[in-house]
Amino acid sequence: MEPCVIRVRVREGYDVVIGGGLLKDSGRLMRAALGSCRLIVVTDSNVAHLYLPTLLNSLAEAGYDACSYVFPAGEAHKRMDSLSGMLEFFAGQRLTRMDCVVALGGGVTGDMAGFAAGCYLRGVRYVQVPTTLLAAVDSSVGGKTAVDLAAGKNLAGLFHQPSMVICDTKTFETLTPDEFANGTAEAIKTGILDDETLFSVFELGDARANVKEIVAQCVAFKARIVEADETETGIRKTLNLGHTAGHAIEQCSGFSMPHGHAVAIGLAIIARAAERLGWAQVPIARRIEHALTRNGLPITTEFSPEALAEAALSDKKRAGGTITLVVPKQIGDCALIDIPVEQLLDVFRAGMEIVA
Ligand code: NAD
Ligand code: GLY
Repeated sequence: MEPCVIRVRVREGYDVVIGGGLLKDSGRLMRAALGSCRLIVVTDSNVAHLYLPTLLNSLAEAGYDACSYVFPAGEAHKRMDSLSGMLEFFAGQRLTRMDCVVALGGGVTGDMAGFAAGCYLRGVRYVQVPTTLLAAVDSSVGGKTAVDLAAGKNLAGLFHQPSMVICDTKTFETLTPDEFANGTAEAIKTGILDDETLFSVFELGDARANVKEIVAQCVAFKARIVEADETETGIRKTLNLGHTAGHAIEQCSGFSMPHGHAVAIGLAIIARAAERLGWAQVPIARRIEHALTRNGLPITTEFSPEALAEAALSDKKRAGGTITLVVPKQIGDCALIDIPVEQLLDVFRAGMEIVA
């Protein structure tokens, strides 16, 4: 089947190419987009075993001189010392401004390799090759890059758009059910923001069977938002739906809870709160809870509203005395609401009281 190509029309626009089996063709696709250059592939220790040889073969077939840098897998390694190891490797390889970094892996790899590419020599090009559903539907598009600090998630980073995204949906076949579900959480988030068509796949359909269409709709939606607001001064903030509580849960768990699972609980909390505080149409909370649980995702947490509020208020989205919440009003319609920071605990309490 023909790959689907979605153009992201930011200052230096780029294509997101989506299809089954694209990894084998990635060298040819990159040559068409990048021309001649040297490439450094950054990947993690799990993905290296699974997909690095196929990618390197394809790059060699297309005539590229490429080498690889492998770091230990997991969110616990999305931090400054991993980033600094990457930058030293780039310098040791004498990577120049003409060259390019390739991020092969999930959101952790993409966020870090993108950050490294954005600051090495004040910015070199990079290509995203997402291998998790989460990276495909969200993190590989839009140019947000970051590492975590002890004080919170993604606290150091920059905006740096990729030069191309190549998404081989066949790579999702090796994801565990839990890892697949992580990506489903971000795709359900997009369904809530975008429209009933996408959301109903998670309410009624089979996400694995419809994965290419899901990725394409999520990418097309995200492209529209990023084109309208590349650096998150307005509408892009809506992509943080479920993330205020979600990031707090990740932080309270010492980052042992995966991002997608934490976002799922965050979506359920804000949906229940939105109904109880009169911001949303009933029965949005029940519909969102159903879509999440049906796709193997959690909707409650053991952490208290107090612990989450404390963690959330150390998060970067706090601006002065207010915090911006993304509130679902109905499927396909979310609002940004600024509340005083003191009110956040009440919002979390409203969203965490489970009524049978
Ligand atoms: P991840 O990159 O840690 O990948 C999850 C796990 O799956 C890892 O162990 C990885 O080695 C493994 N893996 C990757 N591809 C695989 C495959 N095809 N088969 C088997 N195993 C595979 O995590 P993630 O869930 O992809 O991404 C989460 C990260 O993304 C978080 O750090 C989050 O903050 C970030 N994120 C960024 C943005 C953004 O816009 N930049 C958006 C959403 C999330
Ligand atoms: N994942 C949120 C964003 O890219 O803005």
